Amino acid sequence: MGSERVLFVDHTGQIGGAELILLDVVAGRENSSAFLFEDGPLAKALVERKLKLIISKWGSGLSQFRRDSKWLAAAPLVGRLAAIVEEIALASRSHDVVYANSQKAFVLAAIASVFARRPLIWHLHDIISPEHFGAMQRRMQVMLANARATKVIVPSQAAASAFIAAGGKRGLIEIVPNGLALPPEPRTAAELRQSLGLPQGPLVGVFSRLAAWKGQHVLLEALTGLPEVGCIVVGDALFGEQAYAAELKQMVLARGLADRVRFLGHRGDVPKLMKAVDVMVHPSIDPEPFGRTLVEAMLAGVPVIATNAGAAPDILEGGRAGTLVPPNDAKALAHAIASVLSRPESLDGQLAYASLRAKARYSVTQMLEAIGLVIRKLQAGAAA
Ligand code: UDP
Ligand code: GLC
Repeated sequence: MGSERVLFVDHTGQIGGAELILLDVVAGRENSSAFLFEDGPLAKALVERKLKLIISKWGSGLSQFRRDSKWLAAAPLVGRLAAIVEEIALASRSHDVVYANSQKAFVLAAIASVFARRPLIWHLHDIISPEHFGAMQRRMQVMLANARATKVIVPSQAAASAFIAAGGKRGLIEIVPNGLALPPEPRTAAELRQSLGLPQGPLVGVFSRLAAWKGQHVLLEALTGLPEVGCIVVGDALFGEQAYAAELKQMVLARGLADRVRFLGHRGDVPKLMKAVDVMVHPSIDPEPFGRTLVEAMLAGVPVIATNAGAAPDILEGGRAGTLVPPNDAKALAHAIASVLSRPESLDGQLAYASLRAKARYSVTQMLEAIGLVIRKLQAGAAA
């Protein structure tokens, strides 16, 4: 499967949710290559999947550049960005299709496509909304997409709507929901807690990289009103959010939460940790483009409390497959946590429904078939 020669482009060497999707997409595509702006764990994982790897000579550190970074500091970067464009254009020439897996990768791949014309897929894992991007960035992304992208794959209707609202052409969009699978885990929550060294009392967990918009601080705030409840914070700052990570740790000390909140850092055993908690909290304060952890919790049979924005209300079917709370509202979140913890048996029906829904709508097979079809069509169109 996957004989097409695809050049996959990503700006980061770290493995966030978008890169976990990429790792599924590239499996079995041994005629393909990956172009990364920088080295890192993603590079190693791509080589393990037998892709030819190209690492930019100029891209190191760009993944830490955020929307609130000072643009003046970026001025000397312009030459580097031009050099990366040239590298992508050169690499594109020996491939049939270019597949940009991040916003920064797309911008440079779109410019490169002017010099090396290849069908260009943008797998857009972001919500192009004012909460996430400044006006200039939104305009540039959409202008480049409309001019250069052959297809824009998005993981949710929410991401599609934001793209169109920002001026993106509706006809470019292909909605392909993310697909997830979890390894079977027969142990009970109590057994898992014991093996993981976690406390046995009421326990909630949050499983996202540490970033202000992911809203871990709102969960910590909610915990101040729930003195019996422990919490694991799983994940680390992957994309330049170290100051926020430090603030969270400071907040735990300042609010007297240190004996109840444990920071576990970035982990490779999320499915186990997830099955060990009583509730998975997804507190993003800005609209979530998809949210893999929502589906992971549904598959693990763990109650979900998520903020009612972005793709979450769709994934949780308006609250039938989980509990929805307003974003950035610690009181409402505390109330929802207390309510879920106080009546676990009454959630059995919701959990069974959530698991069926996750398996039916968010399977890896469906995702790979849909993306494979997009790639094949573009390759065939280019060859014709
Ligand atoms: N994840 C992980 N280790 C961690 C924290 C998160 O492997 O310590 C995984 C998590 O299980 C999920 C992904 O990272 O599969 C995050 O994807 P999501 O779509 O939830 O959010 P993103 O970080 O991509 O915005
Ligand atoms: C991004 C989004 C997340 C999504 C992931 C995979 O990182 O923030 O919501 O699940 O990509 O599409």
